[in-house]
Amino acid sequence: MYWNFSQIAPPQPAVRFGAKSGRIVAEIGFGNGEFLQYLAKSKTDSLVVGIEISQWCVTKAARRSLALRADNIRLLHGDARYLLKYAFEPESISEVFMNFPCPWPKKRHEERRVTRGGFARLLWSRLEEGGAFNLATDVDWYAEAAGKAFSETGGFAASPPERNGLRDYVTKYERKWRAMGRDIYTLRALKTAISAEGEKIVEEGMPFIGEHEAEISRPLAGRDLRAAVAGLEGENIEGPGYIAVFRDVFAGERGDSLVKVISTDEGFEQHFYLRIRENSGKIKVSADAVGKPYHTPGVRAAIRHAAKRLSATHI
Ligand SMILES: C[S@@+](CC[C@H](N)C(=O)[O-])C[C@H]1O[C@@H](n2cnc3c(N)ncnc32)[C@H](O)[C@@H]1O
Repeated sequence: MYWNFSQIAPPQPAVRFGAKSGRIVAEIGFGNGEFLQYLAKSKTDSLVVGIEISQWCVTKAARRSLALRADNIRLLHGDARYLLKYAFEPESISEVFMNFPCPWPKKRHEERRVTRGGFARLLWSRLEEGGAFNLATDVDWYAEAAGKAFSETGGFAASPPERNGLRDYVTKYERKWRAMGRDIYTLRALKTAISAEGEKIVEEGMPFIGEHEAEISRPLAGRDLRAAVAGLEGENIEGPGYIAVFRDVFAGERGDSLVKVISTDEGFEQHFYLRIRENSGKIKVSADAVGKPYHTPGVRAAIRHAAKRLSATHI
């Protein structure tokens, strides 16, 4: 089956939603994508942007969205904490929905909660004035904690969580929890004009705009090159806000090789392959299109690092 996937997930990394996108509504952790569909149908004047960390869920939602022929849905694959910051302009989103986020109840997992550390402030900076954050959860303490975090910014008016209120749409997880007799808590936090901190999250610019590749000026050749490629396995690099680890190396017959890399930028983890291509004595290193990583500082540093290792200038 042929999918015109670029309509749904814009080709990386040319994503930045803002003034030119019109009215924007975002959903964090869209799961199977049914609520995104509901949003797209009920808010036809808006661009509905879904953010989801699970690749499998992105694939399922893309399939649904294409079947629906919705041209106002866009999907972003990755950690919402990172993508909200870098894929949206400040004050660009009119509403954010988060339905049944994983609560990560154990102490040792609390860092994984979407609402941890600066999330309310980040949302404040990305929502337009009068914009709203909507949470639904079956976990009472999660709703309480989120409400507290939003109120503490001084930039939101959040009413106490409502128990078993009327809902316009019931998602897969909501159906599941209701069937088990659980209570559902909803919270709506409205962005007010002023934040207590009187500041916005500093506009740091898009760290992953543009495709990056490196051409090696004086490349190693023959056995030296193969040894240098193999030697990448197990290397680690670290820089401001990022870490990248070089894992398995797959050397091809005709000189092309793939190197598996795991990078983390401000906690945003990506798994991808570097492709090393030889052509008429020239060698290029790029991020392979299959993994479609965002070209974050960590990904770009991995490309530069591999290029440096394969250059005769740096022996
Ligand atoms: C319990 S499911 C709820 C799915 C859907 N919203 C529903 O109500 O049926 C939580 C979803 O959040 C996604 N998720 C978890 N952490 C995330 C993050 N940091 N960024 C984006 N999505 C995340 C998970 O992959 C999962 O699909």
